[in-house]
Amino acid sequence: MREMPRAPYERTLFVCCNEREPGQDACANRGSAEIQKRLKEIVKSKGLQGRLRVSRAMCLGLCSVGPNLCVMPDNVWYTHVTLEDVPAIVERHVAPLEDSRNPSI
Ligand code: FES
Repeated sequence: MREMPRAPYERTLFVCCNEREPGQDACANRGSAEIQKRLKEIVKSKGLQGRLRVSRAMCLGLCSVGPNLCVMPDNVWYTHVTLEDVPAIVERHVAPLEDSRNPSI
């Protein structure tokens, strides 16, 4: 393997999109795919797709409290995420990149 000399993205939002049988605890069963899609649309609309990645994750191990999302390298985790939470997530984790004039990568 080869270790990358630097991270390819300044920030990655991992949205659990794990699916299970209907009625079982799983983030996708609670609408996480729509959350991931909305975040991705916003990042693209802001032209930040080269600096910030919105990634569909498999199980993050917190199934009973999903939809779950974690932001790296911030190491901030959110549970019970809804579409209504997307603006606050964008404000905290996406907008700072939009504001920065000199990207670090
Ligand atoms: S299914 Fe999302 S954390 Fe397990």
